[in-house]
Amino acid sequence: MEEIVEALQAQVDSLTNNMHLERGRKIYFQACMPCHGIRGDGRGPAAKGFDPAPRNFRRGVYKFRTTISGALPIDADLERTVRVGVPGTEMPRWKDVLSQADIKAVVQYIKAFSPWFEDPYALPLPEDILKIPEDRPFEPSLASIAAGRQLFVEQDCVKCHGENGKGDGPQADELVDDWDVPIRPGDLSRPYFKNGKRDHDIYRVFTSALNGTPMPAFDDLSDEQRWQLVDYVQSLEQRKGFVYWLFRENPNQVRHPEPENAEASNSGG
Ligand code: HEC
Ligand code: HEC
Repeated sequence: MEEIVEALQAQVDSLTNNMHLERGRKIYFQACMPCHGIRGDGRGPAAKGFDPAPRNFRRGVYKFRTTISGALPIDADLERTVRVGVPGTEMPRWKDVLSQADIKAVVQYIKAFSPWFEDPYALPLPEDILKIPEDRPFEPSLASIAAGRQLFVEQDCVKCHGENGKGDGPQADELVDDWDVPIRPGDLSRPYFKNGKRDHDIYRVFTSALNGTPMPAFDDLSDEQRWQLVDYVQSLEQRKGFVYWLFRENPNQVRHPEPENAEASNSGG
């Protein structure tokens, strides 16, 4: 009896799975294929010349993850990207168009482009998921920003991101991604980042790396140093640079009028 129930359950599971994939396939062909391509290789008919190019799903290499460097993403990571999109690129946000169930279905479908997701030994283990403490150990301060600035130089972030984080470091023009396509380091003074701009989002980027890009994981930093780096990176958005932050509370500091475009660029946040 038990065996029959188990066999039936397995059949129901596989049917549900197939229905899910079928639904995912329909959505994919309507909403994603024009950019990501029929074969999921990122070469859709609508995406010629896009920079960055739509992701090639076939290798299972994903930038935006809560898993350690080099690991596959978990479903929730992919669902999040589809829900909120990738700001500053052609990747739209789908949460106003697709239901949560549709997003789950299409994510299962794009995973099926890569054999890695079917290899149980390749799937992330619970310990491969980054645990970022919910509460920061200290509040941002001028001291933490200054310490973060020092780390930014010591850890060679400037090599790629440049002295002021604008994405114009000495190596910026030479970088390529895993598909041999030139890639530029993010301009860290933008009001939005590709994978979110909460403190936790920034912490995650240099802790787990952006797979498939030259953006590395920094393993040797203490938790305190990571939050200091976060504070420095956040301070860059002011578009007035580090020195402004150091002196902004000093009434004796000469204040220049805002550049004309400052308001437009800061109001996006
Ligand atoms: C108009 C073009 C376009 C459409 C339509 C589109 N995408 Fe994308 N997508 C992109 C681009 C461009 C990127 C690359 C962003 C980057 O590398 O910074 C991307 C990246 C992604 C990523 C990779 C995130 C990572 O962690 O590396 C996922 C997942 C994704 N898209 C899923 C989807 C799904 C699912 C759909 C359909 C519901 C879809 N996309 C529709 C252009 C598009
Ligand atoms: C070898 C070059 C290189 C080094 C060194 C490097 N980065 Fe990056 N970084 C990149 C590239 C390239 C990207 C953009 C990836 C993309 O857009 O897909 C990036 C992206 C980022 C982003 C995300 C920006 C966004 O829009 O999502 C942050 C934050 C960041 N880097 C911080 C740092 C910090 C902090 C350091 C030093 C601890 C550092 N990076 C060192 C190359 C580098």
